[in-house]
Amino acid sequence: MRAKSSLDFVVRLHYKFSTMILHTLLTPAELPALAARDLRETACVVFDILRATSTFVTALHHGAAAVIPVSEIAEAVARRKKQPDVRLAGERNGVRIRTAQTGAMDFDFGNSPREFTPEKVRGQIIVSTTTNGTRALRAGATAKLVLAASFLNLSATAQFLRGQTEIILVCAGTAENAALEDVLAAGALAEMFAAHGNPRPALADATEIARQTFLRRKHDLAAAIGGSQNGRRLRAIPKLRADVAFCAQQDIFNLVAAMDARGCLRKI
Ligand code: MLT
Repeated sequence: MRAKSSLDFVVRLHYKFSTMILHTLLTPAELPALAARDLRETACVVFDILRATSTFVTALHHGAAAVIPVSEIAEAVARRKKQPDVRLAGERNGVRIRTAQTGAMDFDFGNSPREFTPEKVRGQIIVSTTTNGTRALRAGATAKLVLAASFLNLSATAQFLRGQTEIILVCAGTAENAALEDVLAAGALAEMFAAHGNPRPALADATEIARQTFLRRKHDLAAAIGGSQNGRRLRAIPKLRADVAFCAQQDIFNLVAAMDARGCLRKI
């Protein structure tokens, strides 16, 4: 019996120091456990394809100085009171947050990536609260590395993660449910490592589920994303319909969006 356990230990040691281990959280129900975990050795990659992380990556690509994800509307309003030059962004039920919800002011932006143009965001600090995406980013905030990722910057994110040994792919979800578009993105990233990683990464079962889901739909990704619960909801709102196709674009931005020690997402 003793021989086996020291062998186990060596295998784990080998894995720990040489092989990347990819875990995946498929639903927002797993966020409280993530927030309670010791993440000092871990890289968290957060996906909220429709639309929070796609929007944050777009804002940073167009020159925003930083995006600060917060969970609650009151937190965002308090930040503005303390720092009058920050811009406020966010949604509830997909639409921009207004005075009726803040009791003070309309937000400057909603959560559509198409609103965050270079003219409007260059050099700006944007405080954002959304239903799922900002909650997921906050839940992983104590990690060694926190990235906001999307299809828009997936390859740049994968490249940046090389050398990391413990990675958690966090699917932000829709309301309290898994979101197909987030699982597809996590699966696409896992496939990049599985196909090209040397040595091949160790994939947790949830990661393999995501990878298999991606392999099944990679030929009609935009249709798969558009057919998801959030995809259907956004396509039913005329002003937001075009967001779905925008967020389904692949590798249009060569940037990595990482959270710094003060909880600010910045382009690196
Ligand atoms: C979210 O954070 O739940 C989504 O990004 C919401 C949305 O954009 O509609």
